Amino acid sequence: MLKHLPIYACGEIVRGFGRGSKELGIPTANLSLEAVKSLPDSLQTGVYYGWANVNNGDVHKMVLSIGWNPFYQNKEKSVETHILHDFNCDLYGQILKICIAGYLRPEQNFDSLKVLIDTIKSDIDSAKSLLDTVENKMLQGNSFFTNKLEKFLIC
Ligand SMILES: Cc1cc2nc3c(=O)[nH]c(=O)nc-3n(C[C@H](O)[C@H](O)[C@H](O)COP(=O)(O)O)c2cc1C
Repeated sequence: MLKHLPIYACGEIVRGFGRGSKELGIPTANLSLEAVKSLPDSLQTGVYYGWANVNNGDVHKMVLSIGWNPFYQNKEKSVETHILHDFNCDLYGQILKICIAGYLRPEQNFDSLKVLIDTIKSDIDSAKSLLDTVENKMLQGNSFFTNKLEKFLIC
């Protein structure tokens, strides 16, 4: 399935368990179940990098986790995006667009929360440099990110 990257997806941001901000200090925007289902079944679980925007705003670098979060043993599959930008507001109910550009690693379980956090920070560093290539920067300018939205809230 990786040969089909990049993949574009769009959906409403819904509430997760809230651990991203509180426990990890790495907030994530969780895509609605409808949007999760719109992704190809063959897209393997794991950690990816790419681009994201909210309500057709500026397009930022992001890292993304797809799966069941083995560290927390979630029952539902989730697609969680950490956008490399400080939004000073609550994003629930707003529209997230993502471009999944590349794959980093499989989801893992860890012996401690600290190792999970350190691993995600290392994912962020990898994503920052991988997205600086000419090929990946071109994806940032794709018209998908500015195509009209039917309905959105302003933050
Ligand atoms: C880049 C990235 C990598 C992640 N890697 C893992 C992982 O390897 N194992 C895991 O259990 N969870 C992983 N997660 C998921 C986090 O555990 C999850 O975002 C956190 O629990 C917050 O979830 P919540 O928003 O539902 O509270 C990753 C999240 C991100 C953004």
